[in-house]
Amino acid sequence: MEKELLKNAVPLLLEWYGLSKRDLPWRKDREPYHILVSELMLQQTRVEAVKEYYVRFLTKFPTAQALAEAEEEAVLKAWEGLGYYSRARNLHRAAKVIAAEGFPETREGVRALPGVGDYTAGAICSIAYNMPCPAVDGNVLRVLSRLLADGRNTDEPAVKRAYSQLLEGVYPPQAGDFCQALMELGAIVCLPNGAPLCGRCPWEKICRAHTGGEEARFPVRKEKRARKVVSVSVFVLEREGRYALEKRADKGLLAGMWQFPLREENDLPAYGEVVKTKKAKHIFTHVEWDMAGYYVKANAFYPEYVWATAEEIRKNYAIPSAFKAYTVWVK
Ligand code: ADE
Repeated sequence: MEKELLKNAVPLLLEWYGLSKRDLPWRKDREPYHILVSELMLQQTRVEAVKEYYVRFLTKFPTAQALAEAEEEAVLKAWEGLGYYSRARNLHRAAKVIAAEGFPETREGVRALPGVGDYTAGAICSIAYNMPCPAVDGNVLRVLSRLLADGRNTDEPAVKRAYSQLLEGVYPPQAGDFCQALMELGAIVCLPNGAPLCGRCPWEKICRAHTGGEEARFPVRKEKRARKVVSVSVFVLEREGRYALEKRADKGLLAGMWQFPLREENDLPAYGEVVKTKKAKHIFTHVEWDMAGYYVKANAFYPEYVWATAEEIRKNYAIPSAFKAYTVWVK
């Protein structure tokens, strides 16, 4: 029953994709290394945000070999502002594997690359190799739960597995297009938060949620946990045209990234005269930073920090966009 519906849905989707797909930089070729870069960048990140990074990254590191030979700091710098920086480190590690052994040609081999989970392996194998390997992410879960009017909680791993199996049974020869068409439908038509544009959907007549007038009921999700709010103080310490930076711990949030000196406690150190202050907020996946920023004319070169000029910071230090409100103070 489900399979029949999906079988009918495939050609409608492919036809729609041919007419409606966006012109995106990673759709110009199917070079596996390019697809790997794009899929890692696209994990949890919007297409619009990724476009520029993708083009710049490949200009800088055009091959897996070139990336493998780069310094990690240079890779992080190229990733600066994209977030989820462990992706950049994993991509760097993956490039070393690829430079040494060639790009893997099986699903298992691709899945074994650092940073590549089931979803990304499916996407790479479908897009680069036209293999019938499903890639089920949040977009695809939403699209299929509506098509099937599936009342199960899509946050359950069993639902993801069930959809993967279902998709495997209907994969057309144009696997790469099919994979991207599912994502594309979720991205530009079958929008989240009960706001799908059903009038533009190739499945308008066969979607069980839509024909039942129940688009808003799907996907069924479990309640999200509220984010923890953490108050932090950020110190932009300037002395003789140099700014203090510190490297975050190797584990946890923004692991190993550079930042302005940051404290979570309330008793604030006296580094010198406070010239400017600014409040800001940054939302991560599980926490929210309530930030108080201080621009301070430092009274010493505190030795626990690296002291870099504005130019050195721009060129060599990757500072996450959580600090955007304060990096503008570096002049
Ligand atoms: N999201 C994840 N992979 C994608 C792709 N190849 N195209 C558009 N959006 C995506």
